[in-house]
Formats: sequence, C-alpha cells, structure tokens
Amino acid sequence: MMDAKIVMSGIRPTGLLHLGNYFGAVQNYVRMQQSYNCFFMIADLHSLTTHPDTKELKENVHRVIAENIACGLDPNCVAFYCQSHVQETSELYLYLNMLAYKGELEKTVTFKEKVRQQPENVNAGLLTYPVLQTADILLHRASLVPVGKDQEQHLEMARNFANRFNHRYGEIFPEPQAFNFGSDLVKVPSLDGSGKMSKSENQNATIYLADEDDEIRKKIMRAKTDSGPTDSQTPKPDYIEAIFLLMKLVSKEEVVNKFNEDYSKCSIRYGDMKNQLADDMIEFISPIRNNVKDILQNKKYLQQVMEQGAEKARKSAKTTMELVRQAMGLNYY
Ligand code: TYM
Repeated sequence: MMDAKIVMSGIRPTGLLHLGNYFGAVQNYVRMQQSYNCFFMIADLHSLTTHPDTKELKENVHRVIAENIACGLDPNCVAFYCQSHVQETSELYLYLNMLAYKGELEKTVTFKEKVRQQPENVNAGLLTYPVLQTADILLHRASLVPVGKDQEQHLEMARNFANRFNHRYGEIFPEPQAFNFGSDLVKVPSLDGSGKMSKSENQNATIYLADEDDEIRKKIMRAKTDSGPTDSQTPKPDYIEAIFLLMKLVSKEEVVNKFNEDYSKCSIRYGDMKNQLADDMIEFISPIRNNVKDILQNKKYLQQVMEQGAEKARKSAKTTMELVRQAMGLNYY
C-alpha cells in the first residue's frame, strides 16, 4: 500500500461510543482500512481539556479500543494507537500554536459550546483544541479524515493551519479533507430530534453500543411521537424525522419505504414503527456489544494492540517531524 492515500482520524475516550460515533466515524474506518494507509487514534490528550480527572481514563481508553475492534477495525491492517503514546504530536502542536490566532480560535463553535458548558474551566487547551487536532492529522501528512458533520469546522481550521505552515516554511503538508464514504458528512440525531447523539449529553436520547437489549427498546419506545400527519403534505416534525433517520441506518430499505408510505397516506402507526426500529436496532447492536465484552476480558491483547499501533504511528511521526524541523530551520548543526 505504498501509494495509497493517507487517512487519519480520532475519537476521544470520554465515554461510551454511540450510534453517531459508529455511523459518522467507525463505519468509515472499517470501510477504508483495506484500501488506504490508515492511522486511527484514541484522543486521550484531547479528553484532558474537559476531563482533567484521569481516574477513569485507562478504563475508557481500553473500552474505546475494544469498541472499535468489535465494530470490525483490524489493528493489523491499520495503525491504531493512543495519542499520548506518540510524543511527536505535542511537538507539532507547539509549532502549529505559533501559527494559530487567538481570534480565530475564540470563534470556533465547539470552543464557544465548551465555554458555556464549563465556565469554571476555560483552559488554554480548550482554546487550542483544533490546533492539537490539526497536529494529529498533519503528523502523518494525511489527506482524508473520516469524521461526522460536527467536525467540519475543525477540518476547515486544519486546512488553514496546514496552508499557513506551507506558505511560511515550505510545502510539507497536504490539505486534509473531511471524508464520508460515498456521501455528505453524517449527523446522527438524538432520539428526540433535539440535537445530535453525544457521549455525555442527553443520555436517554442516545443509543450506545454498550446498551443492553431492554435499554435499547425502552429508549426507543419512549421516543416522542404524536397522533400522526393529517394530510399527505404534512412535513415531518424533528422528532419524527429523527426516528426515520435512525431507521434508515439500521433497517432494510423496504421497511423504511413502507413507513414512509404509511406516513404520506396518514395511516402510520408510530407504536409499530418504534417496535420495528427497536427490533432492528437490537439486531444491529447486540453482536457488537457482546464482542466488546469478550475483547475487554483480554487485557494482554489490548496492550499488544496499543504497542503495535504506537510503533507504527511513531515511525510515521518521526519522518514527518524531521521534515518539519528541517523546513522550519530548527537544525543548527
Ligand atoms: P469525538 O470523540 O467527539 O467523536 C468521534 C467521531 O464521531 C463523530 N460523531 C458523530 N457523527 C455523526 N453523528 C453524531 N451524532 C456524532 N457524534 C460524534 C465525530 O464527528 C467524530 O468523527 N475532535 C474529535 C477527535 C479527534 C480527531 C482528531 C478527529 C482528535 N483528533 C484528528 C479527526 C482527526 C472528537 O472530539 O471526536
């Protein structure tokens, strides 16, 4: 795979993975792993911007690794590693910080969101979060970054920082592009249609890959519906649209078509629809969940995965950083 395009992406170990992480990110990782040169990372350093307490970090890192593998990621096929195991990341982050302006960082949507969520801890790491993310990507000179829609702005910033570096010091980095297999970037809605699924917010409206069958059914059956459309032109309210969108992800096409037809004929029965969605969701999630449990038992295997991944990632990082230092003129011998 010498000439294959380089792919890089990351997930923070801040909680259980959910359907958004799966359909926005992990599914793409698995589809790309055979035909590209892939680097996939557990973003443990990024998690320190919001979770300074590291008591649960080890367990969370192990779990996210197991969850990715249970979804089909093959650590022999890709470099699957922890961010903190590749210390070159921090060096590149430092250099890129000198090319990132306070004004643009303060305008970032995710930063403003975090300021609202944790006003007592608006740390500099939070402000420069997109710079660290850019370092992750550029460290391997990646050009494709499989992510969900919520990461679009971070990718735009990564392109800006890469271009800025190239203009000042010489062409080292390709422009990284956000990537989704075959279509637009994905945003998996929360079950109540009020926003996106998220690791930490609105947990009752988020379906996790670790949810037991009865929890999945309970969450889906509790989802808000109404008495149905009154004529064939009635637009779907957000909470109904969310149920359809989730159904499209896990149910057969003819099943989705049937409920769409029922909707336009004003004969839809939401109870039946949610029951069907719960069946299909359970069928989708339960093998992954059980797989995760097995993988988590084998700590030695997890350690081996991390070591093997770090070794591959460090090799690529080392080559890039030699080019970077050279380009920047940080070579005085
Ligand atoms: P994180 O951990 O929040 O999310 C991991 C991946 O899941 C996607 N995602 C979603 N996609 C669709 N619908 C949703 N509801 C949804 N929720 C989450 C995210 O878009 C992401 O692809 N900053 C990153 C981690 C990161 C990274 C990187 C990503 C660190 N370094 C380098 C790419 C490249 C983050 O917080 O992802």
